Amino acid sequence: MAIRNIREIGDEVLNKKCREVTEMTPRIQELIGDMLETMYEANGVGLAAPQVGILKRIVVIDTTGEDPHILINPRIVESSGEQTGSEGCLSVPGKCATVTRPNYVKVAALDVNMKEMELEGTELLARAICHELDHLDGHLYVEKAEGPLQDVPSVDEEE
Ligand code: NI
Repeated sequence: MAIRNIREIGDEVLNKKCREVTEMTPRIQELIGDMLETMYEANGVGLAAPQVGILKRIVVIDTTGEDPHILINPRIVESSGEQTGSEGCLSVPGKCATVTRPNYVKVAALDVNMKEMELEGTELLARAICHELDHLDGHLYVEKAEGPLQDVPSVDEEE
């Protein structure tokens, strides 16, 4: 596995619609491993394939640091409620903004074996699912931000 370069806002690959994955290949397995490693190394809770320059419908999410979810060709099949909170993105470093999302979502996807699966999430997991799926259609959270982007204090400044 390897750390991949995370594309940043302004890179047009982040505004493109991704293609469905039709078969699992060693290359895609390697991509998924790299995406997980890249997400953990950057202390992110989710990463979508276009963020590493690959226009495929693949996202990885781990909101707890010990529960990785790999979603291939994901689609939201149910959502309810509402949450308004702060959101950031590894492709928009050092920034965050307020975004309203559903408080519950159910997503249907394929797993790494290309078998149908479902994942339900509330709160942070629901937010992460919505955020990462938006990436697959070329959308960044900044389009949904309520008010201006804020600077995230660096760890040094917090200490
Ligand atoms: Ni993001």
